[in-house]
Order: sequence, then C-alpha cells, then structure tokens
Amino acid sequence: MKIFLLGMMGSGKSYWKQLLAKQLKSGGYDLDFIIEAQEEKSISEIFNEDGEKYFREIEAKLLRWFAEKKIFVLATGGGTPCFHDNMKWMNEQGITIWIDEPIEVLVERLLKEKSHRPLISHLNEAGIIEFLTNKYNDRKPYYSQATHHLIGEEINLKNFKKIINQHV
Ligand code: S3P
Repeated sequence: MKIFLLGMMGSGKSYWKQLLAKQLKSGGYDLDFIIEAQEEKSISEIFNEDGEKYFREIEAKLLRWFAEKKIFVLATGGGTPCFHDNMKWMNEQGITIWIDEPIEVLVERLLKEKSHRPLISHLNEAGIIEFLTNKYNDRKPYYSQATHHLIGEEINLKNFKKIINQHV
C-alpha cells in the first residue's frame, strides 16, 4: 500500500507518517528530507540559491522515485500536490490523505519553528496568518483531490486506521 500524506506546513504530516509507518510496519519517508539528502543542501538553501522553480522540479522528480516502492507512508511537502501534476500522479499510485488542521493550529506550531521554512521565515505572526490563509485558498483545489480528507478533530489514529482498512 502506498500512502501519501498531504497538507499545509505544520499540519503534522511528518508526525503522522512516523506513527502510521510504525503501525503498518512499512517504510516512512519525508519528501523534504529526501530532497535535502539528494541535493546535499537544506530546503532553505535550495530556495535561496536555486529558487523555488528548481525546488519544484526536484521535488516532482524525487516524488516519482516512489513508483518503484510498493509499501510506504510518505509525508509530502506542503506544496507538493500543487505542481507538475503531482496530485494526479499520487492518486494513480495509491491513497492520498489530506490532513486539514485549522489555520490557528498551523500558526501556533509554525511560530515555534519557522526558521527552517523558507516561505515563512521572514514573517511575523500577522504575516504568517495572511500567508497561510492565501496559500490554503490557493491549494484547496489540489488538496481536495485527495482520496481521503481528515479535518481538525477527525485527525486521530482511529480515523487513519479506518481509512487504511478500507484499502487492505
Ligand atoms: C513548502 C513546505 C515545506 C517544504 C518547502 C515548501 C510549501 O514542507 O517543502 O519549504 O510550499 O508549503 P512542509 O510542509 O513539510 O513544511
């Protein structure tokens, strides 16, 4: 089973990836970490030195490595579904789950760890709220194509298991 976790920055994709991979006894991966390892640079360095366009190309290319893998949980980057037909590709490959936390929750989490996130590292709280609100609206049409959608309180292990059980 191929599981792709989608959602905004700070929605908990990496956290849930780890938990679900353990439950399924499968590999758990972070697309951002794979990009960093492959490029031998941090995400911030790639954005600053090579630009977002380059980052999105590498992201799409490395995402497609997962065509070869059979069983995994992958935490994608917040923007992954929105570029290079990635959403369509992921849906053809396996299950896509949109983890949809409210903006307030994202802001609270991101304020604590914005430094390594190049899109928001220069913003204050009001700026982050505005950025996330705009991005959320722009990205909704892509995230909405996910095969499953968990919102706020629904984001818990029981519901993830329910989704996974529908596919075994
Ligand atoms: C991005 C989110 C980041 C990372 C990059 C761009 C985005 O991933 O891929 O900084 O466009 O929302 P996380 O969602 O894991 O923070």
